[in-house]
Amino acid sequence: MTFGGGGHTKAILNLVPEVTVLALDRDPTAISLAQQLAKEYCGRVKPLLGKFSDLEALLSNMDIKPGSVDAVLLDAGCSSMQMDEAERGFSLSKDGPLDMRMDGERYPDMPCAADVVNTLDQQALASILTAYGEERQARKIASAIVEARRVNPITRTQQLASVVAGSFPPAVLYARKDRLQRSAHVATKTFQALRIFVNDELNELHTGLRAARSLLAPGGRLCVITFHSLEDRLVKRYLQGEDLSNLDHFSPRKQGNGKPKLVDENRDRRDVYWLPLQRKVITPERYDVNENPRGRSAKLRAALRC
Ligand SMILES: C[S@@+](CC[C@H](N)C(=O)[O-])C[C@H]1O[C@@H](n2cnc3c(N)ncnc32)[C@H](O)[C@@H]1O
Repeated sequence: MTFGGGGHTKAILNLVPEVTVLALDRDPTAISLAQQLAKEYCGRVKPLLGKFSDLEALLSNMDIKPGSVDAVLLDAGCSSMQMDEAERGFSLSKDGPLDMRMDGERYPDMPCAADVVNTLDQQALASILTAYGEERQARKIASAIVEARRVNPITRTQQLASVVAGSFPPAVLYARKDRLQRSAHVATKTFQALRIFVNDELNELHTGLRAARSLLAPGGRLCVITFHSLEDRLVKRYLQGEDLSNLDHFSPRKQGNGKPKLVDENRDRRDVYWLPLQRKVITPERYDVNENPRGRSAKLRAALRC
């Protein structure tokens, strides 16, 4: 479901010679790479440009029926390629236009991060920062954004980082710690929140999990890698059979839908579709993190489709 730079796909192709990978990604740049890989691996890669929410339709056009896929790998979030390219606007440390759309220019009418920070009212901005960044200073940051944009629209990543930094005393700019106790900039959670909102990531993740349930053959496997607690909580609860259809998310298309929260009103009505392959979530070993520091907060959950 998440071709990205193709690292997982190449590993799968090399490990299992008879496998064909249906390689989905919403990012046209990733799909260009998948097209190159398809040539290298003589048609064993089928590139599919689209979102998790497009997947069932894309596969149905290829005459791939529900219940016929052997395995699904979903590696959520954005790729290193997206993070490292300043022009994509995901990076806090590199200056670029405040964009953050994983789809690039595919949907010109979809709001980018600059549209969000320059047009939503203070309360809506604070709700996004709280819901998707778990940012405790959301109101203070939202107020600083609204103040700053009165003077000049916020259009660059570094400009936003400075606005957020300006709402904290200089001594605490790097006082926050990540999971490895490394210093993190105070705007990190703001960037995460905006990225999740712009790309409607949690609703997409939920749709992706439902698509996996429909597409997998009995006994098929689902592996999901997530990078923050909001995603992991959603995956954990979904695999436990909770009905999350009442997720009341604050999505770009459903603004003003009330307070964003993960609510399950049918807690006791569980459907059993999944058998966990491990009792506990799998996290990286120290040597994994040394080799790939960006994977430090990764969590892998794997389950068998019953
Ligand atoms: C963490 S990267 C995947 C990296 C990949 N596993 C690899 O080995 O290079 C996540 C990728 O998923 C894509 N993505 C995220 N959300 C998506 C969605 N809702 N639909 C389709 N692709 C999505 C992103 O564009 C990004 O390329």
